[in-house]
Amino acid sequence: MNPIKHVAIIMDGNGRWGLKKKKSRNYGHKIGLNTVEKIIKATIKNNIKYLTLYAFSTENWKRPKKEINFLFSLLENFLKNKITDLNNQDIKLKIIGKKKFTKKLNNLLTFSEKKTSYNKKLQINLALNYGSKSELINSFNVLKKNKININEKNISKHLFTKNIPDPDLLIRTGNTQRLSNFLLWQLAYSEIFFERKLWPDFNEKDYNQILFKFKKVKRNFGNI
Ligand code: FPP
Repeated sequence: MNPIKHVAIIMDGNGRWGLKKKKSRNYGHKIGLNTVEKIIKATIKNNIKYLTLYAFSTENWKRPKKEINFLFSLLENFLKNKITDLNNQDIKLKIIGKKKFTKKLNNLLTFSEKKTSYNKKLQINLALNYGSKSELINSFNVLKKNKININEKNISKHLFTKNIPDPDLLIRTGNTQRLSNFLLWQLAYSEIFFERKLWPDFNEKDYNQILFKFKKVKRNFGNI
């Protein structure tokens, strides 16, 4: 059975779910947040130490302003209401991506990271304004500027995910099979599970089924 240290998730399908329910895309995001809470609980139950969630990509800025504002207001309320609870559950929050939001949100994110920085039960890496290509370019530039050797170890050291083990598995919900500029370097040897369900419909049982399948995969890492 493969151990699981790190699960990464592309939470896709909120917009379609909202429209399918004859409501708005934003309604899908709102209900999608309930799934986030369920999956955090299930991750702790499974004793997994790292959970990385793709909440907003560098490409998502192309969306209508109304949707972008709604997503950030959801995030803001979530942190305001839940950060104490997350802290009490020994959960550490880390933002991966460039923190270039309103001053108020930047401060809230930094506050939430600091408040939970010593926690040990589970680390949630929330990918916000995250793009894997720009993360890699930034790492190469730091190495070049400081005349440091370009090798795997040094490249990894200058990514947002520095000191975090690579994901063992990636789950993408929403019946779409692509990586969308997410953790391109870190996912090199991860097992990938594409889930047909839209994110708001995804539940603990679906998650546990994927984790169970993953545990039985023969991982070769290029060997035989
Ligand atoms: C992708 O679905 C989802 C997002 C871009 C946002 C993810 C946000 C949440 C799950 C809720 C908020 C989370 C936090 C942590 C506050 P999509 O909108 O691309 O769906 P579609 O493919 O149906 O259009």
